Amino acid sequence: MNPDCRDMPPACFPTVQSKSDMNRKEIFSVISNRRLTARTMLLKVAGATGAITAPGQFVNIAVEGKYLRRPISLFDYDDDSITLLYDIVGDGTEWLATRRPGDPLDILTGLGNGFQPAPESRRPLLLGGGVGIAPMFALARRLRAEGKDITVVMGYNTAADVAAEKLFADEGFSTYVATVDGSRGTKGFVTDAIDANGLDGDYFYACGPLPMMRALCSALDLPGQLSLDQRMACGFGACMCCSLQTRSGDKRICKDGPIFFKEDLIWK
Ligand code: FES
Repeated sequence: MNPDCRDMPPACFPTVQSKSDMNRKEIFSVISNRRLTARTMLLKVAGATGAITAPGQFVNIAVEGKYLRRPISLFDYDDDSITLLYDIVGDGTEWLATRRPGDPLDILTGLGNGFQPAPESRRPLLLGGGVGIAPMFALARRLRAEGKDITVVMGYNTAADVAAEKLFADEGFSTYVATVDGSRGTKGFVTDAIDANGLDGDYFYACGPLPMMRALCSALDLPGQLSLDQRMACGFGACMCCSLQTRSGDKRICKDGPIFFKEDLIWK
């Protein structure tokens, strides 16, 4: 076992910097909105993507009848489209799941800092819990283009929740699954799948529920970057509702994150 992040010596760690503070509101058009499991959907929309600078950023979608937009991680993007993997977790995402091809969506893009590829890493592990696997797709494509040897590990509660395995496997990524009940892949958590399959990366990128992020920081003797899942309101740094204490001072997860270096995090 490794030292928990709390036990690391205090220092002034760098934060993962955004290459751009630009965000942009655009009207996108739904290309497809496909159900993958009972509660997970894959949405592809067409529109301008020039404000997006890195995998790991997120968008904020206006939903009918709601004051607050819904933040959703980028799954993939190119010059004129965005793909989003999202769970139906309330009224807003239920409405989103009813959008059909051709429907307009008001989307704020270019939000958050995004992952920063670690040049020293040759064999990164890309780890996701549930829909937290989403930002790993565009990241995996970028890292593979840089010649990295990528391994993807995703964790779910049960086989019926496994939404993204085929999406990654179809792209040719080496993909492993863990389920808490053992109904698919390794029984247990992402860390159990790493151990059971003898996976030994030299760096990790992770996204998922906070308990999982904490467990990974404690269990993995590797440097890494983590995308923190947090309820947001404005989504662009104005309301301070997503503040986080780090070793380099107070941060806003939406604006200064959502990606943070492992060494910068304080687990209370
Ligand atoms: Fe408003 Fe982060 S959600 S500052």
